[in-house]
Amino acid sequence: MSISQLFPEVGQRPLQNLYLNHNLRQIARQQQRPFVYANFVTSLDGRIAIPHPTKPGLKVPENIANDRDWRLFQELAAQADLIISSGRYLRDWADGRAQEILRVDDPAYADLRAWREGEGLRPQPDMAIISGSLDFPIPPVLTANGRRVIVFTTANPDPTRAAEIEAEAGELYVTGDSSVSGEKMVQKMAELGYKAVYSAAGPKVLHLLLTDGVLDRLYLTQVGRLLGGSPFSSILEGDLLQTAVDVQLHTLYHDPLALDGLGQLLLAYDIVE
Ligand SMILES: NC(=O)c1ccc[n+]([C@@H]2O[C@H](COP(=O)([O-])OP(=O)(O)OC[C@H]3O[C@@H](n4cnc5c(N)ncnc54)[C@H](OP(=O)(O)O)[C@@H]3O)[C@@H](O)[C@H]2O)c1
Repeated sequence: MSISQLFPEVGQRPLQNLYLNHNLRQIARQQQRPFVYANFVTSLDGRIAIPHPTKPGLKVPENIANDRDWRLFQELAAQADLIISSGRYLRDWADGRAQEILRVDDPAYADLRAWREGEGLRPQPDMAIISGSLDFPIPPVLTANGRRVIVFTTANPDPTRAAEIEAEAGELYVTGDSSVSGEKMVQKMAELGYKAVYSAAGPKVLHLLLTDGVLDRLYLTQVGRLLGGSPFSSILEGDLLQTAVDVQLHTLYHDPLALDGLGQLLLAYDIVE
């Protein structure tokens, strides 16, 4: 027992199965549209990504990433039948700096593979990619063993890229004019039969999910570390929201063992409709 559940106050809990016990698939079965949830690990000063030390673009700061948060990330991913990522993720993959999101082939997560099997799920959830540019290849492993890669894009996609994506076994849907609409995208996900949808993407995707009121729950791991610096990404980027999005605490845990005893807070918020 290592985690203290502070809200609702319960006491000590083990790390393993902490988020599996949130039973997201059960919640998803009880609502009409897909249950959509997102997750971030952040520094105390709100950094989720900082410049890559040697390459263009940003990456998760190494001094906040940690194996205990990663275990919880995996438990969230394991409960999904569809994982959302972005064009940036596939460009990172092509550049050798991204890998599978759910690591069911890692012996450390063999229990999650078995859990998915028990739920009647394939080892890997399908993948949704949000992109306006369509500027990425689809790695063959993502479409192996019947896994679907579904790309959501904006109006008038480049016909050459669209044909290439379809030739790489991706499915392409236009769900927005100049920007992918969260509402149209989730509507399409529902039509395709998805129930539990996990966004592992970044701050712009969170913005489109919040703007259209299609996010149900936000998971945040807040590491007790201040980073400073700019540029950086926070959890949310885009225009001022026309209506502020209210959230209500669902659970709060203190994990004192993370980062060699530095500790972190594990927060989950329900989005108030
Ligand atoms: N600390 C954490 O927990 C955490 C979590 C997630 C991500 N990150 C980090 O945050 C950084 C940013 O991640 P990200 O690039 O996945 O985040 P993002 O800002 O959510 O997504 C950016 C990409 O998604 C596409 N996109 C987003 N909104 C769109 C819209 N409305 N319409 C059309 N396309 C849209 C665009 O792809 P195209 O350019 O292809 O058009 C855009 O480049 C990365 O460094 C990542 O590692 C950190």
